[in-house]
Formats: sequence, structure tokens, C-alpha cells
Amino acid sequence: MAIRHFLTLLDLTSEEIVALIDRATELKARLRDGVIDEPLKNRTLALVFEKSSTRTRVSFEAAMVQFGGATLFLSPRDTQLGRGEPIEDTARVLSRMVDVVAIRTFEHEKIERFAAYSGVPVINALTDRHHPCQLLADMQTFFEHRGSIAGRTVAWVGDGNNMCHSYIDAARQLEFRLRVASPEGYEPDPQLVAAGSGWVEVMRDPREAVAGAHLVVTDVWASMGQESEQAQRLERFSAYQVNRDLMRLAAPDALFMHCLPAHRGEEVTEDVLLGPQSVVWDEAENRLHAQKALLELLLRR
Ligand code: CP
Ligand code: NVA
Repeated sequence: MAIRHFLTLLDLTSEEIVALIDRATELKARLRDGVIDEPLKNRTLALVFEKSSTRTRVSFEAAMVQFGGATLFLSPRDTQLGRGEPIEDTARVLSRMVDVVAIRTFEHEKIERFAAYSGVPVINALTDRHHPCQLLADMQTFFEHRGSIAGRTVAWVGDGNNMCHSYIDAARQLEFRLRVASPEGYEPDPQLVAAGSGWVEVMRDPREAVAGAHLVVTDVWASMGQESEQAQRLERFSAYQVNRDLMRLAAPDALFMHCLPAHRGEEVTEDVLLGPQSVVWDEAENRLHAQKALLELLLRR
């Protein structure tokens, strides 16, 4: 059987995504009921992380413990990868020892190269271009609060970054309308927008994007690796803050999501982040359940 990687949301079919969300919600309930599920007993996940992480690392590590397996956390400081050993060789070696590898890195092309030489499934734990694991959790959270997202309207406010790109993939796969509002020069990749045509619309005005939306989403203005642009971005994005005035334009029962970490007073105000429409803590928790369902799917024998 061909090895299944999860580098973008397009690596799963729409049916698989919906089934995965259902399974994640089921695993969540089973965990709360104290049921022990150990489908990955004696199996090992390697986490190769070249960027910081709280949620992604902890959710994968907790998932493997709960599933009866183990995790190895590998930072570039400790591995030969950090001293220049080629990605191809690292992929060949790791995949002879572990059952699955999750990678957080900069260039998306790096994870594609790793996957091409890996004999085991590779999961994208965030690249500069995509963050598909976060989308599984976001979609699970929407389904749990509001049911199917098909035919709904989602507003993405801010940077056309990795999260925005994965929202574009999600819109195509789950058939929702995505309105992206970004400042000039910070729009999502036009190729991805073109691939999502019919589902995705890019505009300038955040008020237009949010009008009547069922879900409002934002993310930091400067992603990991863009720290030197922080001051310039603060200026360019100042009109793109999700605050109470902007949320008022959305549908009355609209939800607010943010993958976190959040910068209060920048892309979102504290009253929205902690307000009644915000589901960010459920969204963060669902990283655990959604990734358990993902691991189960990729490691199915
Ligand atoms: N949302 C997210 O991926 O968080 P971390 O960077 O903490 O993993
Ligand atoms: N866009 C952010 C997401 C963090 C989870 C980043 O890449 O830093």
C-alpha cells in the first residue's frame, strides 16, 4: 500500500476529512468517559521541529501517550540535521526506526523532500506555506458548535499566510465560501487563490469580508521567521484588527477562531478573544483529538 503523507489538506479526500472530524469527536468523548484506546501501542512518532511550538508539540506527545505509543522530540540543536546532514539521508534513516514523522519547518519544499525519501507517513506540523493540522481542529470545532460548514461563509482577516493558505484548501474540500481581507502586498498566494476559485474571494476591506460571516478567523501579523518585519507589519495591518466593532458586522451567531498564540491588542482585542463568540480554547483542545484521528488514519494497517 502506498505511504500516505499529510502535507496539505489536499492529501485527504473531502469524505476522509469529514470522517476524521467525526472520529475526532468520538475519540474526545471516549477520552472523557475514561475509555482507553491504544491503537498505536509500541509505535513511535518523531517530531522534527525547527520552530517553537506549544500546542502542536504537546498535542502530538499527549496523543501518542494516550494511544499507547511514544514520541521522540528532535530539535535541530540536537540532531545532525542541524549540522548539515542532508534531509534525504535523515528521512531515510528516521523512517527505518520510527513509524511516523511530524515536521515543523520553514520552506514547504523541505517537507516535500523529506516525504519523498521517507518510508513512513510524514505529517506537516507547520511550514511557511501551510498548517493543515490546525485546520482539522478548526473544522472539528466548527462542526461541534454549528454542524456542517458546507455553504457557510468564513472571513479570514489579516495576513495571507500559512493558516490562510490552509483555509483556502479547506474551503475547496469542505465547500464553504472564504472571504480573505488582507492589506496590499500581504495577500495569499495567487496560485492557491486561483485553485480555490468559486470558493475563495480576496478583498481589501475587512468589513466587507466579515459582513454576515458565520466564522471570523485571524492570526498573528508576523509569523515565525518574520520577526524582523514586526514593526512594519504592525503599521500595515493596523486596520485589520478583529475587535468588537468588526465582530458586530458578522452573523449574530458567528464564531471567532485564532490558532494561537494570540497577540492581544494587535490582530485581536482581548474582549473578542475572551468573549462569548470565541471558541479558541475548544479549538486548541481539538488539536489533540483531531491529530489522534489523523494518526489513526495514516497508520492504519
Ligand atoms: N497553533 C499552533 O500551531 O500553536 P503552536 O505554535 O503552539 O504549536
Ligand atoms: N502563522 C503563524 C501560526 C502559528 C501557529 C506562524 O507561522 O507563526
